[in-house]
Amino acid sequence: MTPHKYLITGGAGFIGANFVKFLLEHYNNKVEITIIDALTYAANLDTLAEELNRDNVSLLRIDIRDTGAVMKAVSDFDPDYIVNFAAETHVDRSVTGPRIFVETNVLGTHNLLEAARNAWCTGKNEAGKFTYALGRRFLQISTDEVYGSLKKDRPEGYTLEMPAELEKLMTDRVCPVAYGSLFFTETSALAPRSPYSASKTSADLLVEAYHHTYNLPINITRCSNNYGPYQFPEKLIPLIINNIIEGKRLPVYGKGENVRDWLYVEDHVRAIDMVLHNGRPGEIYNIGGFNEQRNIDIVRLIIDIVKRWAIDNPHIANQLSLDPQNINYDRIEFVQDRPGHDMRYAIDPTKIASELGWYPLIPFHKGIVKTVHWYLENPEWVHKVVSGEYRNYYKTMYEDKKI
Ligand code: NAD
Ligand code: TYD
Repeated sequence: MTPHKYLITGGAGFIGANFVKFLLEHYNNKVEITIIDALTYAANLDTLAEELNRDNVSLLRIDIRDTGAVMKAVSDFDPDYIVNFAAETHVDRSVTGPRIFVETNVLGTHNLLEAARNAWCTGKNEAGKFTYALGRRFLQISTDEVYGSLKKDRPEGYTLEMPAELEKLMTDRVCPVAYGSLFFTETSALAPRSPYSASKTSADLLVEAYHHTYNLPINITRCSNNYGPYQFPEKLIPLIINNIIEGKRLPVYGKGENVRDWLYVEDHVRAIDMVLHNGRPGEIYNIGGFNEQRNIDIVRLIIDIVKRWAIDNPHIANQLSLDPQNINYDRIEFVQDRPGHDMRYAIDPTKIASELGWYPLIPFHKGIVKTVHWYLENPEWVHKVVSGEYRNYYKTMYEDKKI
């Protein structure tokens, strides 16, 4: 059997690299992978050191904004699947510099759609519809942020009653706490509120347009916030862990009351694989695990986990700038809020659960401990990503917030 060919854009970033690892672990030599990545600040080739030594993985340093290079790479490799992770991804950066978000996330996605159409189109059928080589799929990795912000109308949180079809699948897997009565479904209105989410929404609309107009075999997945190994420490969870390691204060925006629905990255990449192989062409699938958490609770939990692990493990305590006994909640500093800060995200994953049988395998209480331990046990990876550009970013972004 000839291996399936995957063109993975943004494969040197957090979720893309976790997807590459997942594919190799599950399919080994039955896949051939070409990664396209511009290697921006968010990429880290150390993440893929082992994978890039394999004969069935290669990396092209290409910017998806470069039309000619994208066309050539897709046509040369002739992939079965294009999975587009490449994006500018940080909301705070989109507030200070939105233009690159439009260029990469919208125009870059458009380049990939054109390249896919060009490489895969086989002509037209009798009805005048465009036809494509069998088994091809363009998967756009999108986000729940395209739906905007949900109301937090149950501020104390409540134990959610699962939809019946999910209860069987998810019992024991999640502890479904929610902070509001509404959830994002695939038919929720698109209502992005940050330059980041607006650029992702625009890309989604183009991807849908290519399906309706050109019949391009596409899917879109919209996942909630991911956490896990190899995430760049500008995002909340790795930033807080790294600040504890470095003995810095722990910035919490506003009052820490905003709610995110967190999913362990391995659960996300498994869902992506299921959609690629069994998703119905043209469909959108929301991915999330009913795991709503307030930011302040996450930060406190991370403090507790680091402290316990450092007290029990002298080699970890030695890496920290603070004595583990001094790692307490008073390290938290409530700072100026993000402009237009979305209050709550919460995904209803009924469609992907009932159509494809996906559900999260890693409950939050286990995933967060695994994640914190991973950062503490991999100081070289962390050190490398937080040297250089990250220091300037941190200074500019958090000096403004007076921390
Ligand atoms: P990331 O920022 O860690 O990685 C992005 C990768 O894309 C990097 O390797 C970067 O070098 C590459 N890239 C950026 N601009 C590029 C360009 N112009 N050309 C080629 N490569 C470029 O992002 P992530 O967290 O891994 O997110 C991956 C995708 O998943 C994004 O599309 C994001 O919108 C989506 N998503 C992320 C989350 C999350 O919680 N992280 C949740 C839902 C959806
Ligand atoms: P982030 O990881 O940037 O993801 P997103 O904004 O895409 O959801 O932020 C997660 C939440 O944490 C969000 O509500 C903003 C908040 N936050 C802080 O409170 N402090 C921080 O330093 C960061 C980076 C985020």
